[in-house]
Amino acid sequence: MKLTQDQIRKYEDEGMLFLPNYFSEAEVSVLREELSLLPENSSGRMMEKDNQTIRALHGVHIHSKIFQSLIQHPLLLEPAQQILGDSVYLYQFKINMKAAFTGDIWPWHQDYAFWYEEDGMPEPRIVNVGIFLDEVNQFNGPLYLISGSHKEGLIRFEMHKSAVESEDVSWEANVSANLKYCLDNATITRLVKRGGIIAPVGCAGSVLFFHGSIAHSSVPNISPYPRRLLLITYNSIENIPRPSGKPRPEFLVCRDYTPLQPVEDDVLLQQV
Ligand code: SIN
Ligand code: MN
Repeated sequence: MKLTQDQIRKYEDEGMLFLPNYFSEAEVSVLREELSLLPENSSGRMMEKDNQTIRALHGVHIHSKIFQSLIQHPLLLEPAQQILGDSVYLYQFKINMKAAFTGDIWPWHQDYAFWYEEDGMPEPRIVNVGIFLDEVNQFNGPLYLISGSHKEGLIRFEMHKSAVESEDVSWEANVSANLKYCLDNATITRLVKRGGIIAPVGCAGSVLFFHGSIAHSSVPNISPYPRRLLLITYNSIENIPRPSGKPRPEFLVCRDYTPLQPVEDDVLLQQV
């Protein structure tokens, strides 16, 4: 399950690596089925502005054997260990729902800005893995990523005006459409001039590895196609956060630092 040297070089150069058709249809069906069985209400659930549409589910792996086995799947875990050059533990698990017609924007940001500011993460030695639970196409709000922007390190960000005005310190301010730490237009223009925007599209089961410092966003989904994206974030065990204040809830920032071990590669199919 190892990445090739060329794939690692591409990841290091662009800050992302897209692997279409990575999981089979049967494996994606197992994940979708598991999602459909989740309880309606969970403490990590975030709604869209309409207060009716689910925007994201955080930390739902905790009670799911299937999502636990996905986290330890060698197709994901081994490349993450290779990319970070270390043993890794689970930092965050979430599913962004980007519902048909109502799934809202994710403004331009770097994930590491949140993890540095809110959680006291020492370095961006962290990798995101996005698993497409639906086909992602040009209409349903694919991720936009700026190639090479991770090389800038932590970029000066703007606090969203709603966060400044309300001094909102709740965890919801970090995951709403009024995202707290955003990149300004001048920064995005400069970064895009150099790297360009890449919007990976492909069938359900495709996988995107992307760096914790890459600048990214996504537009609202006004199409009739849902775009559910399952996101697993692996952190190096040498990079454990040291929060200066009250730590964020466990469903957003896992505090089990046990190094993850790969399970068998047919683990999802064993559940059928
Ligand atoms: C999205 O789901 O479109 C945004 C994901 C992210 O910001 O990590
Ligand atoms: Mn993000």
